[in-house]
Amino acid sequence: MPADIATQPGSPRAAAVAGPVILMGAPGVGKGTQAKLIAERYGIPQVSTGDILRDNVAQGTELGKKADPIMKSGALVPDDLMMEMVADRLKQPDTRRGFILDGFPRTVGQAEWLDQYLQSTSFDGRRIAPVVVHIRVSYNQLLQRLTGRRSCPVDGRIYNIYSQPPKNDELCDSCGSRLVQRKDDKEDVISERLKSYERQTLPLVEYYNRKGSLHELNGEAPVDQVTAETLAIIERSAAAGAR
Ligand code: AP5
Repeated sequence: MPADIATQPGSPRAAAVAGPVILMGAPGVGKGTQAKLIAERYGIPQVSTGDILRDNVAQGTELGKKADPIMKSGALVPDDLMMEMVADRLKQPDTRRGFILDGFPRTVGQAEWLDQYLQSTSFDGRRIAPVVVHIRVSYNQLLQRLTGRRSCPVDGRIYNIYSQPPKNDELCDSCGSRLVQRKDDKEDVISERLKSYERQTLPLVEYYNRKGSLHELNGEAPVDQVTAETLAIIERSAAAGAR
């Protein structure tokens, strides 16, 4: 069966490839872009910790008030707050078949917590280990992607004024809303975010490599190609029973 038919949500193969998927990589590698496409393909939710935090900031919740200044500085929100937030999200029934984690875990402490969580969680009655996809993009490309990123405040679609511009001005192709730039996509904050990534998140490459669940991917290819390669990794892992 061709992969594009086999992985339609609701098809038998789509069910076979469900389970937890972790998209890892520096700010701007394309985690959010890919997570949306993969989530749609498999009919499982994208769990973006950055998006959940930004929603909390917008709604002025206690979590949002704590996270806002930290996010504006480019540092990471403390582990205990993140674990509580992710635990809440993963309790939702839409995660029963699987989920795409975009931006979590980001520290060894978060990864250890997630391991424990997954040991006591089943997907369609089975324990399934995560497939971890590490997307790599060069530093200069990251800067261009982050400074050029715009997103739709209504439907969350991601654009780039350099590589994936909207059809009209800075308006969303789908709903026509005016696109916005994220507050942390300013050069000084980007530089702090990249430092936080190197210090606190990069050690996870070795962490997941030791467990045999890490897959490296070149994120500089066009979006469609990165998606196809990510889907191939997920399907190979499922077929090999490595999950
Ligand atoms: P978060 O929102 O997760 O930001 P991030 O990790 O810095 O990642 P980004 O969203 O910036 O990039 P992305 O990889 O999703 O790229 P995208 O697809 O948008 O986190 C924000 C903050 O929240 C953190 O700094 C921290 O404070 C806090 N936080 C979140 N999670 C946390 C955690 N677990 N623990 C502690 N704190 C946490 O693409 C970028 C651009 O590139 C777009 O314009 C896109 O159109 C373009 N693009 C994508 N793919 C391609 C391609 N193949 N070719 C050309 N252009 C492309």
